[in-house]
Amino acid sequence: MQVLVAGGAGYIGSHAVYQLIRAGHGVIVYDNLSTGQREAVHPEARFVQADIRDQTALETVFAQEAAAGRPVEVAMHFAAKLIVPESLTQPLAYYQNNVEGLRTMLAAMVERGVPNIVFSSTAAVYGEPISPVCLEDSPTLPINPYGETKLACERMIRWVCAAHGMNYAIFRYFNVAGADSSLQIGLNKDQLTHLIPLIMQSALGLRERLEIYGNDYDTPDGTCIRDYIHVSDLAQAHVLGAEYLTQNKGSLLANLGSGHGYSVSEVVAAAERMFSFKWGFAPRRAGDPAKLTADISRARELLGWQPQLSLEQMLRSDYDYRRKISEG
Ligand code: UFG
Repeated sequence: MQVLVAGGAGYIGSHAVYQLIRAGHGVIVYDNLSTGQREAVHPEARFVQADIRDQTALETVFAQEAAAGRPVEVAMHFAAKLIVPESLTQPLAYYQNNVEGLRTMLAAMVERGVPNIVFSSTAAVYGEPISPVCLEDSPTLPINPYGETKLACERMIRWVCAAHGMNYAIFRYFNVAGADSSLQIGLNKDQLTHLIPLIMQSALGLRERLEIYGNDYDTPDGTCIRDYIHVSDLAQAHVLGAEYLTQNKGSLLANLGSGHGYSVSEVVAAAERMFSFKWGFAPRRAGDPAKLTADISRARELLGWQPQLSLEQMLRSDYDYRRKISEG
């Protein structure tokens, strides 16, 4: 199968590319390198540096691949802005990049007859969840422009696929962490905000201490509960999703998490068993729901997918990757 991966030089996109290539599929990485990195592109992938909002460039790639006898069967979309606080201060940039970017990609796919799309969505579409365990049918009421644009994208995909006889796999990610076992790729950016990379920066002495945001939530130990999923498990679901689409099994929308919740204190305790670092409690961070975990039965049933990697493996691989990049 031939797959175009928009955003394939970014964190999650590059992991999907590695898993696709390991599974024997052909890959074109399409990325403008605004946040992605050239070094993260798998050496066996064809690389095109262009913007997702450039319909001509996208159509040219689809046409070239078809002319070479390997038409693109699946387009994967990872090319999005995804920082919640930034989305609150720059909503128009989120609508332009996320919504307009997807619209352009879908237009190019319709024009060139590319029949399947795999799309990165997020648990942020659930907003403040009414129930702490989210099912795909739970209400979607985003509380920030990031989640709002992703929900708009989900809806656009459904309408366009219905109108043009295409199929989709939409995945709603929970808390993604870790790095590929090769340590060639991982989460590499300047402004880190996520819990696990910040713990590891503390363990590597790159940060004075980790702050736990709030210990007065309505949870057993007072800290927030989240569902952490290893990026390689997440990437594997994309391979299975793409194969599902090319086997003409129809469309799907599914949560991707581990199905297991850990509190921030439990993650910190697990990390302390492996590394040494300082931490302390700090006030709550705005916008954090107390508990957010995924029901993953749909992805299990439809894709035969099962997360394989533990919290300890997420922590260890993020540490190893972060140490490698910090040593240059
Ligand atoms: N946390 C700390 N200290 C830190 C960083 C995080 O205590 O230094 C806590 C947060 O308060 C939260 C938990 O660790 O309780 C996880 O926070 P992250 O920032 O790692 O991740 P989020 O749960 O905020 O975000 C994730 C995705 C978003 C998505 C959101 C949906 O990264 O893209 O879930 O709710 F929008």
